[in-house]
Amino acid sequence: MSTKQMHIDPYERNWMIFSAILLVLFATAVSVAAFGMGIQVPAPETRVDPRTVAVDPNSPWSNPGLREIEPGKYDAYILAHAIPNWEYLPKEITVPAGSSVSFYVTSSDVQHGFKIQDTNANFMVIPGQVSKLTVKFDEPGTYNFICTEYCGSGHAIMYGAVIVTP
Ligand code: CUA
Repeated sequence: MSTKQMHIDPYERNWMIFSAILLVLFATAVSVAAFGMGIQVPAPETRVDPRTVAVDPNSPWSNPGLREIEPGKYDAYILAHAIPNWEYLPKEITVPAGSSVSFYVTSSDVQHGFKIQDTNANFMVIPGQVSKLTVKFDEPGTYNFICTEYCGSGHAIMYGAVIVTP
């Protein structure tokens, strides 16, 4: 019969307990944020066919741009593409200060990114799916947006702006 006990240094044991408590705290914080406060990562809004999304007359991206839904509320349909050249369509949108803009962004060719300066908007633009995020623009100014996923030789010239007027 063995009477040998596993020896754990108290210092090491305390660190193990501390790590276990931290894990429980993190799991609780994530659960409360996700289920209690409804904080979610941006999810794909819907699926589209990247081969027709820019040309199908029923597709909002065949005529990309800003739509006013109600005073101060807009939907912005933005198409990112590398063919025939690297750009966003439209390259610029203008809204008055205080506007809430829901961006619906998709790509008709390769993967792009969409990051608007000074906002929390920063997501991937994946061909075949629509990325959506709503941003409220309270301060007048120019909010540049850029492509954050390497998409070819014209990646660095892929940018645009949200102009917020007083
Ligand atoms: Cu589009 Cu990088």
